[in-house]
Amino acid sequence: MATHNKLLEYLEKNSGEYVSGADIASDLGVSGTAVWKAVRKLKALGHEIDAVTNKGYRLINKADLLSAAVITDHAGSDVTVEVFDEVISTNDICKDRAADKQKEVYIAVTDHQTGGRGRRGRAFYSPAGTGLYMSILLRPSGMSAERSLNFTTMAAAAVSQAIEEVSGKTAGIKWVNDIYMDGRKVCGILTEASFDLESGTLDYAVVGIGINVHTPEGGFPEEISKIAGAVCSEGETIDRNLLAGTVIRNFMRYYNEACSGPAPSYSYMDEYRKRSIVIGRKIQVLSAGSEPVNAEAIALDDSCRLIVRYEDGTEEALGSGEISIRL
Ligand code: BTN
Repeated sequence: MATHNKLLEYLEKNSGEYVSGADIASDLGVSGTAVWKAVRKLKALGHEIDAVTNKGYRLINKADLLSAAVITDHAGSDVTVEVFDEVISTNDICKDRAADKQKEVYIAVTDHQTGGRGRRGRAFYSPAGTGLYMSILLRPSGMSAERSLNFTTMAAAAVSQAIEEVSGKTAGIKWVNDIYMDGRKVCGILTEASFDLESGTLDYAVVGIGINVHTPEGGFPEEISKIAGAVCSEGETIDRNLLAGTVIRNFMRYYNEACSGPAPSYSYMDEYRKRSIVIGRKIQVLSAGSEPVNAEAIALDDSCRLIVRYEDGTEEALGSGEISIRL
């Protein structure tokens, strides 16, 4: 980790107390000049640090800035993280990297998307300063198309767990891959993939995750105002770098498990099932071009297919699609 990031953590741990430059230098194992340079760098990044002769340095206010070094540190995995101030879509960045033969695992993170994409051709509202938008490029060698279908549900388990770890609140999963808190959608996941048709294996997959951390000033746009919510309520805050790093750490644990054995590992399904908000609920199964069909959500199998029972008593295992919960 770069010295300025180490210093930021150090000052945070000293929760607002003054620490002398000499103590910092000795605790971090760097020179006095390196401490001074790191303070200057942190100030340039927008953090408020008070410097008083004979007392030392004190962190007054930490800027909520995304940092690749800090995210990587929290992730604790062997991944490449790149942070962008603004992009059209982090999924597109990953696809470009895939075309450039980027090795796995590469992660693009941004504060703002000007063309964020959602499922079914919808846009994903991604304003600056209030969310966390990230995409994970995966290129496991020789993975069957069928097995790679689990990436989306793995991500839903990883994200909901991370939100709970970092915010201390409860997060639920609406099949397949929407994360809900207090009845509102706080995160959507869009997985896009490219397959090698000759071998029937995955070329690459991009798992895109969009989290509403705060409600934007003035609220969400009209068209999503009844559905969208945010992880933090008014006045609350969480560390977006920690959230991003925790998502990656959780996801990589499930991903490595799934890639390592001859058969897929479904341990993430325990976490997914625990948080499912649809099991036992009356739902409508929505299919493009046809009327919604009433059903009850019965169970989730190990491949995360939703077992539904229709009103005529017949059952079906849904592998993909969209449902709504009937109130
Ligand atoms: C949905 O709910 O419809 C899925 C939304 C997925 C949004 C994320 S944000 C990061 C990544 N980049 C995109 O353009 N989309 C995904």
